[in-house]
Amino acid sequence: MPKGCHHAAAMAAAQQLSHVYPLGAHLDERGHLRIGGCDTLELAREFGTPAYVVDESDLRARARAFTSAFAAQTDDFRLHFASKAFACTAVAQVMAEEGLGCDVASGGELTMALKAGFAAEDIELHGNAKTVEELRLALEVGVGTIVVDNLDEVARLTRLLEERRTTQRVQLRIAPGVSPDTHPSISTGGPNTKFGLNLQDAGRALEQLASSPWVDVEGLHFHIGSQIMELAPFRAALERVTAALGTEFPVWNLGGGLGVPYAPGEQPPSVEDYAAAKVAMVRDLCGAGKRVVDEPGRALTANSTVTLYTVQSVKRNVATWVGVDGGMSDNLRPMLYGARYEVEIADRFGGDTSCTVAGKHCESGDVLIGDALLADPRAGDVLVTPATGAYGFSLANTYNGQPRAPVVFVGDGDARLVVRRERYEELFSRDV
Ligand code: LLP
Repeated sequence: MPKGCHHAAAMAAAQQLSHVYPLGAHLDERGHLRIGGCDTLELAREFGTPAYVVDESDLRARARAFTSAFAAQTDDFRLHFASKAFACTAVAQVMAEEGLGCDVASGGELTMALKAGFAAEDIELHGNAKTVEELRLALEVGVGTIVVDNLDEVARLTRLLEERRTTQRVQLRIAPGVSPDTHPSISTGGPNTKFGLNLQDAGRALEQLASSPWVDVEGLHFHIGSQIMELAPFRAALERVTAALGTEFPVWNLGGGLGVPYAPGEQPPSVEDYAAAKVAMVRDLCGAGKRVVDEPGRALTANSTVTLYTVQSVKRNVATWVGVDGGMSDNLRPMLYGARYEVEIADRFGGDTSCTVAGKHCESGDVLIGDALLADPRAGDVLVTPATGAYGFSLANTYNGQPRAPVVFVGDGDARLVVRRERYEELFSRDV
């Protein structure tokens, strides 16, 4: 395609940059994608690829949108950033600065949350298989809440508290027996899940917790899954929980789960509707005066971020294979959940070359986008995949000795590195 045509195509696409991209992302007059005012081609040159590029003001805007959406419904709420979604200190720091608390699911995430500046009091510890060491660490640093998941943990935690002679606020995690319409691997509240206690065992756990003078059961918790595109299952879950376990608890922790758009046509519920539904269901089913806790992860981070890659090879077989310098090491989601991503050439949006964008790893399944349409891709092109801010960095790995990718924050035309690229020698830094 002649250059002018690309330019025209880019201009047409400019009007269509969808809500999948970070807020304010646009194509400049040369057709280059800009995020946070920065030219993504220059970012690729300066920081190398693959790289996660995060629009900091997008993160802040989403945190504020959650806060104001809940504040519009109730005075008594707490929002906890589910740090597993983007377990990066700088991201967690933004969430702490925006006034959120933090949900951690391990000793490692707990350590990160403290480093990011969350007060221990604003941290809650999750986990279906917490170790004694993790529980001890949580008690030592003084986390606000421990979300107790199972009967073994009840015994272990009450024993530790007895030894220390300190009290701890806890919530009990319930598996309400409701399965929202999402990928089975990220559905967590169904009738046979590894998370939480079913409604019968929950009653026993509550009795055991009540018999310890060191435990203050402030409320119940359930999280039915992730990437949820409809609001009805949340209420269905609370209906089952309250029918079985009553409504007297002062705190109701409703987990996270709000879906995000990965493709332009996808329209999840708005944050306002999500907050209104969650607050209303607690008011309707549990009565007035209850505290609502919510734990968003994906919806705070996914669309704030794009990943940049450089094309290393273009191979015409039955399909056209576009090989990039990352893959399942920086984004496992296509392999784990069949997740679909958009992809474009950062300075030639649009195009109609149908191709398969594959990673560099030694697995045939290492395909990032199976059915891409690109503008005549060539080695050296910079590719961009949007909506990679949730569970990309967190699930990153070093398969094939691939150093993990850096995280670059952008805003107001400036870029700053917040996590540098891993070095080869660090791959062996644990050798003894
Ligand atoms: N609270 C609890 C107890 C959770 O387990 C999770 C996510 C969240 C909150 C946050 O959920 P979100 O708002 O992000 O949907 N790796 C998978 C997602 C796993 C979700 C794990 N739990 C993925 O990439 O789709």
